[in-house]
Amino acid sequence: MSKSFAVIGDPIDHSLSPNIHSAAFREMNLDSSYIAYRIPKGELEEGVEGLKKIKITGFNITIPHKIEMMKYLDKTDESCSLIGAVNTVSNTDGVLKGYNTDMDGFLDPFKKKKLNISGTKVLLLGAGGAARAIVAGFAKEKAKIITIANRTIEKANTLSEFAKSIGLDAVPVKIQDVGDTAKNYDIIVNATSIGLQNEPSVISLKGINEKTIVYDIVYMPMNTDFIKKAKEENATIIYGYEMLLGQAVRAFEIWHGIEAPYNAMKKALLGGF
Ligand code: ATR
Repeated sequence: MSKSFAVIGDPIDHSLSPNIHSAAFREMNLDSSYIAYRIPKGELEEGVEGLKKIKITGFNITIPHKIEMMKYLDKTDESCSLIGAVNTVSNTDGVLKGYNTDMDGFLDPFKKKKLNISGTKVLLLGAGGAARAIVAGFAKEKAKIITIANRTIEKANTLSEFAKSIGLDAVPVKIQDVGDTAKNYDIIVNATSIGLQNEPSVISLKGINEKTIVYDIVYMPMNTDFIKKAKEENATIIYGYEMLLGQAVRAFEIWHGIEAPYNAMKKALLGGF
């Protein structure tokens, strides 16, 4: 039987997920389709009812529904309850199960490139929803300590408490106070939305070297100012699209129960730029 999938959110026009998953279906000869479905804020309940009516097999959730969608789940995966937000749902005979693939998607490029996390010192910029999944990932992979730098210090404090509660030592700081300390870290991650509008990096990367891993979760544009500055210092780069790809691969494997065609999905994703 033919299976259908969707990504829901608002705005949704520019989502790359339909391209990535459609390429995977073609590659694996699966009789499946994947569409982008705009559900405005405040209309999630009706939207989800509609998806159940058409017997959707699975769907992804993006801004602004990742937290509210938790209310409409029948079951939650451990990743989802830990992070408190859902981005992937499977539908089995009307029973909706939620997953959060942000953490696995974030970690995927480290695994692919055999880059070590255990025992490292991490600087994380940002303390929003994405940052929370990233903190969970660094805790899982046993980083030594994480400095959480955020414009709003209260959110850095809260996220630091969360980190400590799951066994990761953490220090909150104001993002303006990072100064020229970047060189003291093994891994530096941008999990703020800075860069989406081509803004300059908020921190200096002076003094980092080829061993420093610099990871920007902003994927559009691909070469943010933060990434450009990291390249000038010859750092090891991880691009935002690599996390996006990692998430899509994980969602595919949840829904289809077979290994995802990584290269076909990567090609479709890079074609979208
Ligand atoms: P997401 O789900 O992508 O994590 P979010 O939860 O809205 O989105 O988080 C956005 C992050 O980007 C926050 O850390 C935010 O900082 P504040 O907590 O101070 O709002 C950060 N951010 C957004 N615009 C910023 C800017 N111009 N300068 C500094 N930080 C910014």
